[in-house]
Formats: sequence, structure tokens, C-alpha cells
Amino acid sequence: MTTTMKAALLGVLLLSLNACTQNEPELIDAVGNRQFDRVKVLLDRGVDLETKNQDGATALIIAAFEGYTEIVQGLVNAGADIDARNNQGLTPLMAATTRGHPDIVQVLLTRPELPQEYLSFQENITDIFHIISYLDTRTWPSNTWFGVPAWQNPNDIWITQEIISEIKPDYIIETGTFHGGSAVLWATILDQVNPDGRVITIDVEDLSSEARSLSIAKRKVEFILGSSTDPEIINRLTEEVSGKKVLVILDSLHAKEHVYQELKLYSPLVSVGSYIIVQDTDVNGHPVFVQHGPGPMEATQQFLSEVDNFHSDKTRERLLFTMHPDGYLKRSP
Ligand SMILES: C[S@@+](CC[C@H](N)C(=O)[O-])C[C@H]1O[C@@H](n2cnc3c(N)ncnc32)[C@H](O)[C@@H]1O
Repeated sequence: MTTTMKAALLGVLLLSLNACTQNEPELIDAVGNRQFDRVKVLLDRGVDLETKNQDGATALIIAAFEGYTEIVQGLVNAGADIDARNNQGLTPLMAATTRGHPDIVQVLLTRPELPQEYLSFQENITDIFHIISYLDTRTWPSNTWFGVPAWQNPNDIWITQEIISEIKPDYIIETGTFHGGSAVLWATILDQVNPDGRVITIDVEDLSSEARSLSIAKRKVEFILGSSTDPEIINRLTEEVSGKKVLVILDSLHAKEHVYQELKLYSPLVSVGSYIIVQDTDVNGHPVFVQHGPGPMEATQQFLSEVDNFHSDKTRERLLFTMHPDGYLKRSP
């Protein structure tokens, strides 16, 4: 997703929460207009708590977002669904956390009849952090390596660094060059552990001139222009890396069918004990970007159900927050 699209999504999210039109259902209208007494009357009258505005937000989501603790408490006591999600996938807990309302977080987390999933505090806080950081354009979309944009999550860079240091690959193949910051980043690490190692990066677009001008790129990175699934490119790669220690990082088009094709085409190139890192398995609601549609996670699930020489290495998720959940695929013999 581009930076502009992400900014737009965040804008929609905020607008949807702030929106209050005259056509809103009565409870939502009362909450949106801070008419606390009217809310109480409506609750006493047994009004439907789960009606939504046009953006899918319930009264509880709006109250949690706006910081109306008393209304949140009233809605929760009346039995409002604390798992409700608006059209962007935002729950009341996420709304309160996003806007920094710890008192409301406490109300939402201390209900005795909480579903089991809410008792998994660590998991939920991690997901909430994940969603907030994903939507904030100051985070991964602003990252650079040696001044070149690199759309990577620092936690996952760290884990990838550990993998590169352990495997000391002869080749790192990356699909999805973008500006080339990530290819140069992998080359920087590889240079320390295998001075003869090389990075090959592939993209349909030519955006990497700045990266190509860096001395480490000149020494260690091969930039290929074309589609990652082009048979000619696959043949060329197979010839070059055959019999070598190879690590593959998939970060091109995030549509399920494309990633699945990449998994089928690139998995034979991966050496035993090494990895395919399927990036951005977090989209399509795992837990971010619920509207994405089937993507890297679904491709990975299908691939893993069909092969027995790769498994998802969950130990690579030890930093808790990863943008590649289930995406560190290790090859066995
Ligand atoms: C998410 S960006 C890659 C980010 C980059 N790895 C980084 O960390 O900065 C995805 C890239 O995939 C490229 N892409 C899209 N379809 C592709 C395909 N069929 N083959 C190779 N690259 C593709 C896009 O042009 C885009 O530059």
C-alpha cells in the first residue's frame, strides 16, 4: 500500500469516528453529540446497542474513541458488544488505545465476563500496537537505509539479520526492489558475514537509481528489471544460484495468487536449513488492512498445506511484533 493510500485510510478511519449526521441512528447521534442524559434514557428504554453508522462504528466504538468514559461504562454495563468492529476493523479497545484513553482501556479490559481472547493481554496489546503503527505514516513507510527508502519493520530487519548471520548465504534473492533500500540493507549485513555473498533484487519498475549509485550496491547487488514470476528470470536465477546457500525474501506484489506462484517458483532455489521470508503476511486482517483480500498469509497457508519440506519457524517471531506472522519459512531436507 502506498503512503498516500495509508494516509487516506487513516483519514477515513478518523472521519468515520468523528462523523455524526442527522440521519444517524438515535443512540449513535446521542453519543456523537455528547448528550449523555439522552444516552441514559435510550439505554433505559432498551435501544438496540449494536446499530452502526455508515462506517460501521457502533456507539461503543465512538464513545471509546472520543474518551466518554461514563458512556463507555454505561454501554458496557448494558451489554454492548466489546468485540464490535467498524469497517476498518477497529474495535472499542483499539479506538481507546489509539486516542490514549487509559481509563476506558481499563473499563474494557476488566469486565469479569470478558471473552478468553481479551484475557490474552499480551497478544491484544501487540495487535493493537501493530495496527496503530501500521496506520501511522511516520513508521515503516518513512524508513530509509543509507538515505534510500526501505519499507521494512525494524523488528523484522533484526530477525532477518540473525538469519543472514546464521546462514551466511551466498545469495539473497529479493522480489520487490522498490527504491532498493532493502536490497542495500541486506547487502550491508551480508557483507559482514560472507564478503563474497551477493544480493539479487527484482522489480517490474525501475525506481532504484539512488540505491544503485551506492558503493555497496555496486559491489554486491544485482538489480533485475522484470516480473519475479517471469520464466526467463527464474531460469537465469536457477542457473546462477544452483548448489549455493540461498535465502529468499518475497516482497513484491502482495496478491495471494502472485505470492503463491513465487513460493512455488522460488522454493526450489532455497538451500536446506535456509529460509523463504514471506513478507507482509499481516495484511488481510492478520491483524491489519482487513479490506486487502487474500494475500501473502493465504498464499503461505496454501503452499504449506502442499509441501512437507518447509515449515513456519515461529521462533523467528520472538520479538512479538512482526509484520510477517507465519512468514519465516524454513527449509528442511
Ligand atoms: C512493497 S514494495 C517493495 C519494498 C521493498 N522491498 C522495500 O523494503 O523497500 C513492492 C514492490 O514490488 C514491485 N512489484 C509489483 N509486482 C511485481 C512483480 N510481478 N515482480 C516484481 N516486482 C513487482 C512493485 O513495483 C514495488 O516496487
